[in-house]
Amino acid sequence: MQFTKTTVAACLLAAAASVQGHATIQPNAAVPGSNYYGAVRNPHGCAGSPTNNVTLLIPDNVTSVKPKSNFGPWTVSTTLRPLVPPQTAESGAVINTTIASITWTAKDGAHVLDTEYYDFEFSGKLPDGKDGDVVYFDIIQNCENGASYLWGQRPGQNVTDNTPNRTISSAPKVTLFKNGTSIKADPNAGQSGTQSAGGSSDATTVRGVLAGVGASIFAAAVYFL
Ligand SMILES: *[C@@H]1O[C@H](CO)[C@@H](O)[C@H](O)[C@H]1NC(C)=O
Ligand SMILES: *[C@@H]1O[C@H](CO)[C@@H](O)[C@H](O)[C@H]1NC(C)=O
Ligand SMILES: *[C@@H]1O[C@H](CO)[C@@H](O)[C@H](O)[C@H]1NC(C)=O
Ligand SMILES: *[C@@H]1O[C@H](CO)[C@@H](O)[C@H](O)[C@H]1NC(C)=O
Ligand SMILES: *[C@@H]1O[C@H](CO)[C@@H](O)[C@H](O)[C@H]1NC(C)=O
Ligand SMILES: *[C@@H]1O[C@H](CO)[C@@H](O)[C@H](O)[C@H]1NC(C)=O
Repeated sequence: MQFTKTTVAACLLAAAASVQGHATIQPNAAVPGSNYYGAVRNPHGCAGSPTNNVTLLIPDNVTSVKPKSNFGPWTVSTTLRPLVPPQTAESGAVINTTIASITWTAKDGAHVLDTEYYDFEFSGKLPDGKDGDVVYFDIIQNCENGASYLWGQRPGQNVTDNTPNRTISSAPKVTLFKNGTSIKADPNAGQSGTQSAGGSSDATTVRGVLAGVGASIFAAAVYFL
């Protein structure tokens, strides 16, 4: 990785709030230790320019990762890292590597327009944890005009990355809840349509985003129980 992180006291989430949609992982709440099925969702390109490729960096405590089989206009490639300690599959085979990153690259000039969004699907095993524990992912999004995003900023950390024309913004996250979701069913959820990512606690943030994005996301979170 080309960037470093320095701890800072300030909570940077507030600064990143609700200017434009952020890259997210959907659903953004899940059961600790579960087999998760979700997607990288890129809501826009780079200042009008379409997205050509997207890389998802898998955190150390997410294993058994697979990108969804893809017959569409994207090629999918992965990098591996050692799995420590190795695990034994049901077949008896010893598994000593796991996926470290997935890159989806547009084929033949295909891309996601700035006016469209796309879900890049994958699955993986989430770590155990208690309600409110957060699993952060980093995403690098490259656009046709040479600009890019690093969706890698975490609360209390200061990410620096000297790549030219790169915007650093908040890292997408999945928050762990034993019931698989952070909110109770709310018939009015989603009415306002605003996506406010402000707030100082992860639970609050997820609640706000979920409430803003709406009941369909809530339904997805429940579906993945
Ligand atoms: C995994 O096991 C294979 C077969 O024993 C070995 O060749 C390879 O070096 C191992 N890789 C790692 C990362 O340990
Ligand atoms: C996952 O690993 C990261 C990096 O070690 C750690 O900060 C985080 O707390 C872990 N999350 C869970 C839910 O275990
Ligand atoms: C990703 O997209 C950028 C911008 O178009 C391009 O420069 C880069 O070569 C692409 N990477 C791959 C692996 O295709
Ligand atoms: C960065 O953006 C500027 C202005 O759009 C452009 O002239 C330059 O070529 C870009 N640099 C890279 C590395 O894409
Ligand atoms: C992050 O680091 C940069 C460069 O050192 C600095 O200018 C900036 O003020 C820092 N941001 C915060 C929130 O500390
Ligand atoms: C799931 O659990 C969290 C944490 O205990 C709670 O805040 C939330 O309301 C629960 N959601 C539902 C749908 O019960």
